[in-house]
Amino acid sequence: MDIIRNFVVLEGGDGSGTTTQLAMLTERLKNTQKLPFFPTFEPTDGKIGLIIRAALKKEIILNPETICFLFAADRNEHLYEKDGIIERAARGGLVISDRYFLSSLVYQGIECGDELPEIANSRFPAPEITIFFDIKPEIAIERIKSRPSREIYEHLDFQKKVHEKYLSVLKNFTEKGGRVEIIDASEEASKIADKVWSIISQMPIFIQSESFL
Ligand code: TMP
Repeated sequence: MDIIRNFVVLEGGDGSGTTTQLAMLTERLKNTQKLPFFPTFEPTDGKIGLIIRAALKKEIILNPETICFLFAADRNEHLYEKDGIIERAARGGLVISDRYFLSSLVYQGIECGDELPEIANSRFPAPEITIFFDIKPEIAIERIKSRPSREIYEHLDFQKKVHEKYLSVLKNFTEKGGRVEIIDASEEASKIADKVWSIISQMPIFIQSESFL
């Protein structure tokens, strides 16, 4: 398994808090040290990501298979574009992404079957660490209820499938050599943030650059 050093991914169902936690981590890193830090997310805000967002909001209707290819295309740019994940991580920056290819293996695996997302994502290198935000779908869906509009996957029935699928996809990924840390995402945001920090701050990039801390 090819691994991108200095690259961390946050994964979880909708409403599991990955976006909130990345914002909290960004704040913490900004205040504590000068290590180059690049928070990012998928779908991206690039051209392909914008098409995906439109499909998620049902502004355009696309086949699930098309969406699967779009996620993979968006990811390919995210990784290999100028100043993308690969370049930034190789230059010694810490890159943390809100979602990456496991999201496709889970969501598009449910929508299209396992084969297509596995093929479309087979060439992408793995992150150094994947942090999974584990939460009961019933609790997660309560959290996102107040959002003004619902995207195509934000329904309890689908989120139950997402949670179950994450567990099997993560098991597979771990067996192939991927490093996964599981966090109880039903706790208070500040407690979760501390747990995220305790994982991230043990990474070699921090140990090598102790002077930053
Ligand atoms: P977000 O809620 O984290 O912004 O992600 C948008 C939605 O896109 C979310 O429901 C998860 C979904 N998604 C996929 O279905 N496949 C993918 O590969 C990614 C990155 C996200």
